[in-house]
Amino acid sequence: MRVLLTGAAGFIGTHVASALRESGHDVVALDGWHPAAHRGAPPSIVEGVPLLHADVRDRAAVERALHGVDAVVHQAAMVGLGADVQDLPDYVGCNDLGTAVLLAAMAAHGVRRLVLASSMVIYGEGAYRCAAHGPVVPAARRENDLRAGRFDPPCPHCDAPLTPERVDEDAPVRPRSVYAATKAAQEHLAGAWADATGGSVAALRYHNVYGPGMPRDTPYSGVAAIFRSALERGQPPTVFEDGGQRRDFVHVRDVARANVAALEAAPPGFRAYNIASGRPCTIGDVAASLARACGGPAPVVTGRFRAGDVRHIVAAPHRAGAELGFTAALAFADAVGEFAIAPLRA
Ligand code: UD1
Repeated sequence: MRVLLTGAAGFIGTHVASALRESGHDVVALDGWHPAAHRGAPPSIVEGVPLLHADVRDRAAVERALHGVDAVVHQAAMVGLGADVQDLPDYVGCNDLGTAVLLAAMAAHGVRRLVLASSMVIYGEGAYRCAAHGPVVPAARRENDLRAGRFDPPCPHCDAPLTPERVDEDAPVRPRSVYAATKAAQEHLAGAWADATGGSVAALRYHNVYGPGMPRDTPYSGVAAIFRSALERGQPPTVFEDGGQRRDFVHVRDVARANVAALEAAPPGFRAYNIASGRPCTIGDVAASLARACGGPAPVVTGRFRAGDVRHIVAAPHRAGAELGFTAALAFADAVGEFAIAPLRA
């Protein structure tokens, strides 16, 4: 297939470009070289493919890039928790207006197949069970509780402690940050587009992606890059809350394979998939094993917290296995040695 890959010069995009080419697809690479993700001048080639340097909101450029294309793999986005609420227009512009322009251009060119990079952050707090009340949806965590070191959200009915469970794709979408809200909106726009055009959308809800080529730490970086950057400077990783918050770290090469699998499967209509390793760990454990692998100082657990952070998100990865034939090959423990010495991008 001939595939338009947006965000092709990014951390995940470059790995997706390689995986597409290795699977025999032709890649048209587009990237807007957003300053939050990139420094310096854009390259002319990524992963052996000429790079079209254009923002996905540039309808004319997107239309040119779509000529002869069978499918779009849309990775271009502003990611991360961001600096503060002043980022709101940029996030909505890049992520939602960008997706809207792309979808309209695809419809005009008869391109009906989309793989969309989504995120587990759209679930908000993940799935929980109360011993007395069964499955419950906790409220957003209160600042007073966080200040007092009560990091785990309590049962909304009886205040009892909850057990975190694996979140599946049927869980309701409850974005708790600006970025999460823009990712949820992207999914909704793509779903409406699929209904209107008869197109196919596979929305890949990435869990915490890490691996070679991650950006160094910025307000927009994920925690694995922040820890790696600290260790590179000889400093300990700084763990927020009590380090007990759980995530699923999925390797970027697995994420790239998931994109190829989703492209080739082309599910009918809109369909969402958790893209995860299926082997969750705590942030404290990730910090400790990365520090060991780097031969660096042990992590410092600070008790600090960030507004908009959720406590636990662990995935049920089975739908991607059943419908896309995708199962992650690497657990964090398998890949931490490689990640400890892998180059980060400037
Ligand atoms: C991350 C990404 C999000 C992406 C999602 C799924 C960022 C900022 N977040 O969300 O874009 O959609 O994975 O791929 O890129 N923490 C520390 N110390 C630090 C920084 C963070 O302990 O220095 C903790 C945080 O408080 C949080 C956890 O690490 O509990 C994960 O943080 P982070 O990777 O930033 O965000 P996610 O919410 O997991």
